Amino acid sequence: QASDFVRIVEVGPRDGLQNEPSPVSLETKIELINKLGDAGLPAIEAGSFVSPKWVPQMAGTSEVLTQMKHFPNTKYPVLVPNMKGLSSLLDLLAAQPANTSEPLTDEIAIFVAASESFSRANINCSIAESLDRLAPVTRAAIDKGLRVRGYVSTVITCPFEGPIDPHRVKDVARKLVEMGCYEISLGDTVGTGTPKTTRDMIDAVSSAVDVSMLAAHYHDTYGMGVANVLTAVAAGIRTIDSSVAGLGGCPYSPGATGNVATEDVVHALHGIGMTTGIEMGKLVETGAWISNILSRPNASRAGTAWLAS
Ligand code: HMG
Ligand code: MG
Repeated sequence: QASDFVRIVEVGPRDGLQNEPSPVSLETKIELINKLGDAGLPAIEAGSFVSPKWVPQMAGTSEVLTQMKHFPNTKYPVLVPNMKGLSSLLDLLAAQPANTSEPLTDEIAIFVAASESFSRANINCSIAESLDRLAPVTRAAIDKGLRVRGYVSTVITCPFEGPIDPHRVKDVARKLVEMGCYEISLGDTVGTGTPKTTRDMIDAVSSAVDVSMLAAHYHDTYGMGVANVLTAVAAGIRTIDSSVAGLGGCPYSPGATGNVATEDVVHALHGIGMTTGIEMGKLVETGAWISNILSRPNASRAGTAWLAS
């Protein structure tokens, strides 16, 4: 019997902000993470150690990690693309005073695509090369006591190649598990999934990776995000990635919008009797606050309705 607790991984500060066209200040990044922590999010992706030439918005993740509040029951994973990114993070962790009780983070996320052209566009190498590059990164991270989460991107369609065979997703997911990832987050990067294609993909992957190790990461381009999240929950998945106010998109997936909004996911899950530990009021206020700061419309329907009611 699967539990009724669903763990939300808030990806707005990373997947959301990485795609903002104008620079976001350090203060705003930090305040966003602090507000989300205060709302009870159990995991908040705090940023990434990628090349600032590729994703300028994520420069400054070290400063974010050192200056933000760390809520004791919240995890703060950061994205790492290669050994250089891991080394920067490990240097930062090593520089912490010895008497600090909580590390700045104890988790990284690595990312691989199920499509060759997306892999090339996003990280400038093939899928096989990226797996070869990430195996020693994962080993080194685990040796240092970090947990490693693995993303698979383009699990439904690729922006350049079109539909992706779910068995290709399964093969990549299995390799990430063999590498040592404790969880595999399945990314519908383009947001074209429907409950049918989402279910078919989850069924294929779960023939190789236990469903308890899977997470759902859906962009909401076609408005199917919540429907696909409920499909994942019905399939037994209990970890859902989402982004407050539906922030974001992917810089290397032209036209894709942000992740499904955290407010909409929480509203739907609480509505079907699941628990998340998240305070809806504080979450909704955070979504309105960041939308206002970024001068963008709040993409959460539930958040907007909550404030109007
Ligand atoms: P490259 O150009 O092939 O690599 O990029 P390189 O090794 O030649 O490095 C180029 C320059 O970047 C060099 O600087 C390196 O030092 C520097 P230069 O010598 O020219 O001055 N560099 C770095 N700097 C800081 N941190 C690093 C780092 N690595 C190299 N870690 C690379 C290859 C992977 C680095 C690049 O393609 C990259 O950073 N890509 C990241 C792209 C990205 O962040 N995409 C968004 C995240 S993935 C996503 O959103 C999908 C997800 O949400 C799931 C879903 O929705 O599907 C997770
Ligand atoms: Mg994403």
